[in-house]
Amino acid sequence: MLDRLEQLEQQATAELKAVGDADALEQFRIRYLGAKGQLKAAMSWLKDASKEDKPKLGQGLNALKKKLEAAFEARQSELGSSAGAKASGRGPMLDVTEPGLAPTMGRAHVIEQVMAQLIEVFARMGFDVAEGPELEDERHNFVALNIPMQHPARDPLDNFYVDDSHLLRTQTSTIQIRVMEHTQPPIRIVAPGRVYRPDTHDATHSSMFHQIEGLYVDRKVSMVDLKTTLINFAHAFFGEEAEVRLRPSYFPFTEPSAELDIKMQVKDTWDWVELGGCGMVDPAVFEAVGYDPDEWTGFAFGLGVERIAMRRYGISDIRWLYENDVRFLKQF
Ligand code: DAH
Repeated sequence: MLDRLEQLEQQATAELKAVGDADALEQFRIRYLGAKGQLKAAMSWLKDASKEDKPKLGQGLNALKKKLEAAFEARQSELGSSAGAKASGRGPMLDVTEPGLAPTMGRAHVIEQVMAQLIEVFARMGFDVAEGPELEDERHNFVALNIPMQHPARDPLDNFYVDDSHLLRTQTSTIQIRVMEHTQPPIRIVAPGRVYRPDTHDATHSSMFHQIEGLYVDRKVSMVDLKTTLINFAHAFFGEEAEVRLRPSYFPFTEPSAELDIKMQVKDTWDWVELGGCGMVDPAVFEAVGYDPDEWTGFAFGLGVERIAMRRYGISDIRWLYENDVRFLKQF
């Protein structure tokens, strides 16, 4: 056993002497000191060694390892400044004059950034931030929002139900109900969050995306307040040139209801872009949370955050937002 060790040492020392350039040195390192090198292989001799030989062999192996590593390093610095290294086209292996590498910093995901910007713009208009759970019951996702049992939106195939009466929320409008249930008006909140729908994934659909909900409840709130708020938001967020348009639409929880379009620059052209729904809170919703609909009035809106981010930054495929490719994400 110990003979074999000596043999290995002689062989390695001879080969190291013959090494003429950095490439050959690297080959040597792999052959002897690498993870699958000869020294590693020699370690397995231990298990075949007799009881008396074992300690000696162990010590010998350790000593040889240290010796070879030291010899390797010595050869490395010799070669670093030798003609051999230059001939192989390499400079010294360590160039102390090279500038250091700056550590890369993490950053918030583009969707997080856009949500923070949205919250800030609405905060300047006096809106607080509210939150709600992603796992919801039917009351908050449908019933209190005036979406009756027979409504197609409640089809089990169009929702992620987890049991008979609980599902992943399909809209942040659930948070309107939660806030009104435990707060008395006046109320002015925005509520950002994830929502879930079993949509087939493509460039514009994802089964999880983000919305930001808005709710304003007070006495004598009118459609003019809604439109003014949305115009102010558009100007603050997209620039003074941004125009807002409300297109009549239908939602069970608002009456009248509208779809919000914003004219914005996408790459080189200006275009109307749909951002979400809005309207005056339906009296049935106030009744569901115990507010007197003769006393209280309000408006609500729900905007798609991905859509805003995609339009704003010219991102043409929603899937890029979730693939976690750092080359994509670090552009924002
Ligand atoms: N919850 C609606 C959706 O997900 C969007 C919406 C429409 C929210 C009108 C509202 C609203 O607050 O008033 O499609």
